[in-house]
Amino acid sequence: MSKLLATKPIATLLQEAQETGEHSLKRALGPINLLTLGIGAIIGAGIFVITGQAAAQFAGPAILFSFILAGIACAFAGLCYAEFASLIPIAGSAYTYSYATLGELVAWIIGWDLILEYAFGAATVAVGWSGHLRAFLQDIGLGLPPMPRSDFILFGLHIHLTYDYVGFLVIAAITTILVIGIKESADFTTAIVILKVAVVCLFIGMAGAFLFAHHGQPNYWHPFIPPNTGENGHFGWSGVLRGAGVVFFAYIGFDAVSTAAQEAKNPKKDMPFGILGSLVICTLLYILVSGLLTHMVPYQQLNVPDPVVVGIRVTGHLWATFLVELGAIAGLATVMLVMLLGQSRVFYSMSKDGLLWPWASKIHPRFRTPYISSMVVGFFVAILATLVPLSVLDEMTSVGTLLAFVLVSAGVWVMRRKHPELNRPFKTPWVPVVPILAILFSSALIIGLSPMTQARLVVWLIIGLAIYFGYGRKHSKVQHELANSAQRAPARSMAD
Ligand code: ALA
Repeated sequence: MSKLLATKPIATLLQEAQETGEHSLKRALGPINLLTLGIGAIIGAGIFVITGQAAAQFAGPAILFSFILAGIACAFAGLCYAEFASLIPIAGSAYTYSYATLGELVAWIIGWDLILEYAFGAATVAVGWSGHLRAFLQDIGLGLPPMPRSDFILFGLHIHLTYDYVGFLVIAAITTILVIGIKESADFTTAIVILKVAVVCLFIGMAGAFLFAHHGQPNYWHPFIPPNTGENGHFGWSGVLRGAGVVFFAYIGFDAVSTAAQEAKNPKKDMPFGILGSLVICTLLYILVSGLLTHMVPYQQLNVPDPVVVGIRVTGHLWATFLVELGAIAGLATVMLVMLLGQSRVFYSMSKDGLLWPWASKIHPRFRTPYISSMVVGFFVAILATLVPLSVLDEMTSVGTLLAFVLVSAGVWVMRRKHPELNRPFKTPWVPVVPILAILFSSALIIGLSPMTQARLVVWLIIGLAIYFGYGRKHSKVQHELANSAQRAPARSMAD
C-alpha cells in the first residue's frame, strides 16, 4: 500500500524542470504566447455551439447565470492550477502535481483521466468543427460529399456508425503542425487567437450597437429565468445548474496552459499570468456573448449548430455573418491544437516516469517535440472523432476535467501542509478555503452530469488501473528508486 502512495520527490521534479539540451523540450514560450495558448484552448465549441443548445434546453436567457456559476468554479480551480504550475513547471500538469503530493496511484489515475479531457476534448471539437465547416460550405454553395454510414448488429445491439472523415482529416493536419515544433504551434495559435477574439468582439460590438440603435429591441429576456417545466434541470434554478454543468465545457482549456510549463521561458512568473489571464478574459467575453445572444434571439430558436451565427444575422449584416462563421472555423482549430499538445505532454511526463512505454517520451532530435507521442495521440483522437457522437464525447471531456480539478485542488492543500517551506512564486489565496470551494463546485458539476457519463468514467478508470498494475507499477522509476534505497539501507547497516 505504501508503494502505491509513493510520491515523486519535489527535488527530482525541480531538477527535471531545469533540463536542457536536444533531448529536452524547448523553452520558447513567453507570457503572450501562454496567454494566447489559454484563450486558444478555451474559446471554441463551448461558446460557438453549446451555449445555444444549453439555453434552448436547460436555462433560457438565464444561461448567463450558468456561465457565471461555471466561471466561479473555474476561478477557484484556476487559482490552484496557477500555484502548482509556477511551483512545479513540468509538462505533466495535474498528473505531475498529484505525483508530488497524493502519490503514484492517484497520479496514474489523474494521468489516465486527463486523456478524457484532452483526447476526448480534441475529438469533441473536431466533430463540432466538421459540422461548422459543412454548414459554411453549404452556405457558399460548396457541399461536401455525405459522411459514409454503416449499420450492424454487435452482441445483439444495433450499432449505427457515421464516419466523420472531416474530423479525421483536421486532426491529422493539426498533429502534423504539432510534430514540427512548439514555436510553430504557438505562432499558429497566436495568429488564429487574434482572429477568434476579434470575431467574438465583433459579435459583442455589433449586437450591442444594434440594440443601442433600436432602443433595446428585440428583447427576449422576458422571462429571464423561464419557469421549471416540472422536470429537474429543465428551466428554473435547477435548469441554471444543469446549464452550468453543460457550459462548463466552454471554460475547459485554461488548465492546458500548465502542460506547456516546461516549454515556457519564465514559468514561475508567466504561468499564473497565462492561466488566470486567459480565464478572466474568456469569462467576460462569455457573459457578454450569452447575454446579448439571448436578448436578440428567442432562446427556443438557439438549438442549432451555429447559434452565434444565428445571433449576428439579426443585425442584418451579411459580411459580419460570414466573418463570424470563418472565425468559428479557424477558432475551433486552435482548441484542438492545444488539447492535442496537452495530451502528448502528459504522456511524455508519464513515460519519463516509467509509467508508460519509453516511446512516449522520445524527442525528435531536430523538432524537439515528443513526436511519437503526438502521432499516436493524433491517430487515436482522429478515430474517436470519426466514430463517437458529440454528445458522448463532450460529457466525457467535462467529467474528466472536473475530476482533475478536484485532485489538483486537494493537491495544493496537501502540498502546503507537507512542504510549507517551498518558495511559491504564486500563492493560491485563502488556503484551504479556495481549494475546498474548488472541490465542492467541481463535485457539484460532476453530480449534475448524466448518470451514464458517471458510469463511463468508472469503466474508464478501471481500464486505466488494469494498465497501471500490468505495466506502470513494474516500470515506475520512483518505485525502483525506493527498492534500491531499501536494499542499500540494510547493506549499510550490516557494514556498520
Ligand atoms: N473550451 C473549449 C471549447 O469550448 C474546450 O471548445
